[in-house]
This record gives sequence, C-alpha cells and structure tokens, in this order.
Amino acid sequence: MIIYNEQSRTITLHTRRTTYQMKADKHGTLLHTYYGPRVGEEDLSRLLQYVDRGFSPNPSGFAALPVRGYSLDTLPQEYSTCGVGDFRALSAEVEQADGSVLLDLRYVSHEIQPGKYALENLPAFFGQGWETLSVTLRDPFSGVEAELLYGVDEEDDLLTRSIRLTNRGSGPVTLCRVMSLCLDFTRADLDFATFDGGHVKERTLHRAPLRPGIQSVGSVRGTSSHQHNPFVILCEEDAGEDHGLCYGAALLYSGNFLAEAERSQFEHTRLVMGIHPSHFRWPLAPGESFTAPEAALVCSPDGLTPMTHRFHRAMRERLIRDPYQGKRRPVLINNWEATEFTFDADRLVDIAREAAELGAELFVMDDGWFGTRDSDLSGLGDWTVNEKKLPGGLGALVPRIKALGMDFGLWIEPEMVSEDSDLYRAHPDWALGAPGRPQSLGRGQLVLDFSRKEVRDHIYAAMSRILDSTDISYIKWDMNRSLSDVWSAALPAERQGETYHRYMLGVYDLLERLRRDYPRLLVEGCSGGGGRFDAGMLHYTPQIWCSDNTDAIDRLRIQCGTTFCYPVSTVGAHVSAVPNGQTGRSTPIETRGVVAMCGTFGYEMDLGACTREEKEIVRRQIQTFKDRAGLIQAGDYYRLTDPFRDLTYTAWQHVSPDRREALVSLVTGSTRAALPFTILKLKGLDPTLRYRVDGGERLYDGAALMHAGISFPLISGEYQSIQLHLTAEPK
Ligand code: DGJ
Repeated sequence: MIIYNEQSRTITLHTRRTTYQMKADKHGTLLHTYYGPRVGEEDLSRLLQYVDRGFSPNPSGFAALPVRGYSLDTLPQEYSTCGVGDFRALSAEVEQADGSVLLDLRYVSHEIQPGKYALENLPAFFGQGWETLSVTLRDPFSGVEAELLYGVDEEDDLLTRSIRLTNRGSGPVTLCRVMSLCLDFTRADLDFATFDGGHVKERTLHRAPLRPGIQSVGSVRGTSSHQHNPFVILCEEDAGEDHGLCYGAALLYSGNFLAEAERSQFEHTRLVMGIHPSHFRWPLAPGESFTAPEAALVCSPDGLTPMTHRFHRAMRERLIRDPYQGKRRPVLINNWEATEFTFDADRLVDIAREAAELGAELFVMDDGWFGTRDSDLSGLGDWTVNEKKLPGGLGALVPRIKALGMDFGLWIEPEMVSEDSDLYRAHPDWALGAPGRPQSLGRGQLVLDFSRKEVRDHIYAAMSRILDSTDISYIKWDMNRSLSDVWSAALPAERQGETYHRYMLGVYDLLERLRRDYPRLLVEGCSGGGGRFDAGMLHYTPQIWCSDNTDAIDRLRIQCGTTFCYPVSTVGAHVSAVPNGQTGRSTPIETRGVVAMCGTFGYEMDLGACTREEKEIVRRQIQTFKDRAGLIQAGDYYRLTDPFRDLTYTAWQHVSPDRREALVSLVTGSTRAALPFTILKLKGLDPTLRYRVDGGERLYDGAALMHAGISFPLISGEYQSIQLHLTAEPK
C-alpha cells in the first residue's frame, strides 16, 4: 500500500511487515525518513536534526533557505546529489554540457499506480498485486530529470527500485555513474555482510561491523563474478537467524556492479548499489534516457531467516518465469566430469543408460560435441556437430537417448570464440578488442562482442539450427572467462564507455529471444560454475550451476552462502565421483547425495563405474529426491548451523508451506576425538502438531522439537550424513 499525505508531503510504502517513508521537504529535497518494521504514516522527518556542522555546506539559490543547519551532507536522502555539498557515496555522477560534474535533484511530482512499472530489456520482478510509485526529480540548472521507480510487493515484503535518467536540457550530458539504489540510515551500528570468494570457492559469507568510510564489493569483470556477489546485507550487530533487524539488497544485473556501504562522520550509513562506474560512460543527447537495472530490497525485523524466505518466495514466484516457476527440475546426468572432451556416441549412451536405469530423467551432453573441440583451445563459435565424434550428428544420438526414456540437453557457450575456429577466421573483428592491441586470452578464448546485433543474430541462427534439428529440452549456457580488452568495433571512440553494459543487454536480448521462440526450453546458467549467479540471470535461467567445485564438503559453504538470497530450486548441484577432481577428497556417496539434494539434484559421473551397492544407493537417492522435491524446492529453507564458523556438523532443514512435512539434513566435517553431543533445535514446525520421524512409532511434539531439539547419534568417521523426514499428525 502506498499512501501520500498532502499536508506533510510524505509518501509511505507499506508491506505486510515493513514501512518505507520519504518526504519532499519544502526546499525540494526528497528526504528518506524511515525503513523498518511496520509503523503508521506519521511524518518521521521529526527525527531529523538541523545542526550547523563545520565543512558541511548549505545549498543556495533557493528562496527562503533556512539556517546554516540545512546541509545535504547530513540529511538522509532518497537519491543523493553530486558535487553540490553531499560528500558521501554518490548515487549519480553526470557530466554536464559545460564540463561540470554537478547534479542537484529536486522533487517535482510523483504518481502512484496499481501494477508494476516496466523496464525495457532488463530483468525485473513481475506478477500480480504490485503498486508502483514513480517520483520525478529534476536538476533545475541542467534539465537532467530523474524518475525514481519503486515497486511494492506487499505480500513478500519486497520493494524494488530503479531509476530512469532523461536529458531534458538542450545540450548533451554524459552519465558517469548511475546507481540503482541509494538507501540512507540514520544509524551506523550495523554489520555489512557480503558473499565473496573466487572460482571454485564462491559466495563465502563475510560479515563485519561497519567502520568509518566506504566498504565496498563489486566486479569489473563484465560478469557479476565468482569473487563478489551482487547481494549484500546490512543488519544489526547482534542480528542472527531468528532475531534482529536485517536489510538485504540484491541487484538484478549480471555484469559489472558496485555495492558501497558508507559509515559517515555523524554515524549515519548510506548503501548504494548499481552498475560499476569504472568503464561506464553513457552520453545522453537531449531527449534521450537511460534506465538503470532493478534493485530489490527486503527488510526483515526478525532476523536473517525471514529475510531469506522473503527473497526465496519472491524469486520463485515473481522472478522466475513459466513454465519452470514452481516446477520440479529433472534429475540430470551430465558427462563432463566423467569424460571431459574425450567421448564418442557409444560412451555417452552408456553413461546415459546407466543413469536412466537408476531413475535419471535428462542426459546433458557437455562441452566437446561441436567444431574441432578436442580441448579448450579450439572450436568455440562453430556450433555444428563434430561428426568424427558423433557420426550422424544429433539426429543419430538424440533418438538413442530418448529410447532410454530420457530427455536430451546440450552444453553451449554462445558468448565466446576460439581463435582456432571458422567463425574467428571469418570475423576476427567480432571479438572484443581494441585496434592494434593483442587481446588477453582467458581459457584460450576470446569474447564475442554481444553488444552488436549482427553478432548475436549469427549466434542465434546457429543455436536455432541446432534446437530445430532435434528434440532438445535443456541447454546449459556457459561463459568461461572474464571480459578484457573491452572495445567494440561498432561504437565510436566517445561511446566506448557503453560497451560493457551494451554487452550485458545483448546477452539478455539473446536469452529473451530463446525464451520467446523456445518457451519450454530449460536453460541452466553457468559461468565456470557460479561466476554469474545473480538475480538478473535467474529471470532467464531458472537454475544456475552453482560452482565447478563439486566436493560435497566445500559445497556445504558454497551452497549455504548462495541460499542466503537465492532459492534452493535455482542451485545447480550434482553428485560427482571421488576422489573429487577439485579437492582430492573422498566422501561417501550418501553424503554427496544429501548435499546435492539441497539444489536441483543430478549426477556428473559415470555411474557404470559404481559398485552394485553404490548403484542401489543412487537409485534410492533419486527416488528420495523425486519424492521430496516439492518440499525441497518449494518449501522454506532453514540454516540450522553456521558452516562458515564451524564445519563439525552442518545442518539445514526444508519445511513444507503447510508445515506438515520437513526434511532435516546433517553432514559431519573432518572428525576428531571427543566430539560434542549434537542436539539440534529444529525450525519452522507447527508447535500444535506432533511429528513422526522416518515413519517410526514415536511421535514428537512440534514445540519440543523446536525449543528442546532432537539429538543425533555421535557419528564416528568423517564426512558422514543423516537425513530425517518428518511428517505431522494432529495432536
Ligand atoms: C565450465 C563449467 O562450469 C563446467 O561444468 C563444464 O561445463 C566446463 N565449463 C566445460 O568446458
């Protein structure tokens, strides 16, 4: 619900449990007055103090300006100014026609409408029940206009934000920075939590109290990156899973991004988030506009778990689109870790047959099936089947897979080109790279300039030929390097600063075309595992390969970090062979299964190499996953332990929406003598119900399971696992 009070000029945005408020003050500054647990519509600008502070300037040029206590440097704002007296993290930087980099945005008007605003060519939340607030601000001196967009999803406690900047002046301006989100707090006793790492160690939680100055994470790799994720949390210092005020902010963008949290001199905090300003310059001629990617905010008054649940639910139901919204994903078998580039049709069919017999539903042929792709040094860009490996092409292979009762899926890396490829020999200028400079290679490959329509059209035509040639129900869209040498032959020198963003828009454009023309195709995102795991990508690819690290123990942290924001149903997770290729560690097949079940679930190994006992375990695992998929993928996910602190026991829980069913999983880390006793307090159950565990005789009181807990046997040996299935009975 959005309420405007004409007298106080406050606009109050209510969700079920939270309230957000802004106020256009009499000088035209759009103040941010509140974001927190739900309150009424009282004008909360009463909390602001106007104190003359040294070195905090006072704006001039407005009639009836107040005392020296009025400074943009000290006031919380909805979208901060630039170069006119606010020295904190910038929302926007605009170079005016006269060369000045100044922007002074003042309230002009606002509109409240039912439904959600639309963003052109960018991922965004959607669905029923939204309201939109759009506030127009203008720089009275240059004519640069900002339209601040707010979407209110009352049910999920979700707010979305974006901004459209328009040049309404008479001369050209250049955007050097446009943040999607600016959020000011009149407090600084907050922790800043980020999800960081690298290839094969993505999304490790780091949390620390804000210190004076700016703390930031970001990416200038052209992808959202393995190194830092475009999702951050600000929370009270003592906030935990079930208590304390938390704010989560996710950017729906898969390219360069920046998130800055600044603790200011007067113990205020500002969070800004948007496209990374490095390498970004976007000229706007008079009349032209630029729209920033969407950011999503959840405020949870009672801890991190409810914040996670709000994001999960909103993403499952209002970001991921049909037909995969709420739909169980197929249990897949992927040949990559079993064969890498060395396979032929018979080998693939053998791998598929073994998996089909045990219950797998989709066979995915990974890298190596096209062009002259016998290693990672050649073939990218030549999307025709290598008939030396696969005589008769897909027309011969796919029916053999379908005859096993399986669907067929294919790996592809559309954004890339190998120097040793027909495509590169024909169009060397289609790769990103500045004239006269040799480009850096990444995994031996170059990046196609996806900002160019003719490049995308060519790749799309090649993809369509494959997709139209046979029955393909899934593709894995991979992307295996960071962008470098970013220069587009299609843009003049003064517009090269647009290339990174235009590249990303090009990727979204191709993904959207695929969706339009192949609406039933399931696309799994991937960038060397989780290098582009973000809310933007989830709008097009309802699942994303979470990490190239398939070691079950490392995955405990990677998956836990990922699911702070992103739903379990989006997390690509497979059981692979041991010793694990990344770590050399051996873990029991049961444990690998339990961990992969906290995701989309599949196998990435030659199941033919398993013993008969192992195959029976796999058969049971697949059946268990199929039986519990609704609970795992649509239920609420609870972290029962913190694997970033202690890996002795890692436990988590899925609870069905009606709270009548739950699945508790526990995995032990490396063992040691005299292990502590394990009593776990379960979460999310109905205190008025009793639960049966694994169909046993005994009934446990829901309230007691949550407040007293359940004890697990002392497990000897390392990397063991237990899974308990709870079903409710009336008391
Ligand atoms: C990186 C992916 O993350 C892997 O799963 C695999 O598909 C390889 N690329 C293939 O080159």
